Amino acid sequence: MKCLDTRKPLKIALTKGRIEKNAVEIFKAIGADCRGLENKGRKLIFHDDRYNVDFVLVKAPDVLTYVEHGVVDIGIVGKDTMMEFDKNCYELMDLKFGKCKFALAGPKGKNFYEGYSRKKIATKYPHVARSYFKKLGFDIEIIKIEGSVELAPILGLSDAIVDIVETGTTLKENGLEVYNDICDISTRLIVNTASLKMKKMEIEDIVDRLKEEIVKKEQSDKSKEVIS
Ligand code: PRP
Repeated sequence: MKCLDTRKPLKIALTKGRIEKNAVEIFKAIGADCRGLENKGRKLIFHDDRYNVDFVLVKAPDVLTYVEHGVVDIGIVGKDTMMEFDKNCYELMDLKFGKCKFALAGPKGKNFYEGYSRKKIATKYPHVARSYFKKLGFDIEIIKIEGSVELAPILGLSDAIVDIVETGTTLKENGLEVYNDICDISTRLIVNTASLKMKKMEIEDIVDRLKEEIVKKEQSDKSKEVIS
């Protein structure tokens, strides 16, 4: 006889877009029912019976907001978003996918540091850019851009950009290059601190399974490297 699970489902916010596919893959690998997430249409909430979880799909900064307010227990979000918005959420693990880096980049062959004029930096991440240059003791002007930041130095809006570089293709195809790496980024699992206390067992069960899955994947990637 099937027992009815009367506990409230655990809520997990997944970042829409780039991270989504890998996130769905790893939850599928640990046995969660992700059929709804894979054929989602315009739906935003998807239930999984295996772990009694409601997955919600939201934009990256909103993952932090929902988790911070405790209406969602767990969030899957990029370290880039966490660094930019600095919300009160607890980072529990590195999911080791969505790997990329923050970099300072600009037109190929130019020396960004030469000259005495105050440099202009276009970015979707003003907080990250400001802290980077503050540490260097470099006075800059930040120009906030919402997307395709690479256009800014090409059109003469800025001297350089601070942005995410994954494959490097966007920079290359637009005649730009990395001047300096800022830091590595990957996808993180964050939790609401009260949820971690109140729903410790459910959260730990999922986290332990995800950890096992990451180890399995790393081992299989290593053996693929050895073979090739
Ligand atoms: C990100 C980032 C770069 C690009 C880097 O943009 O801002 O533009 O990806 O990836 P690559 O190194 O693999 O080329 P995204 O695709 O998220 O779109 P957006 O520029 O509209 O924000």
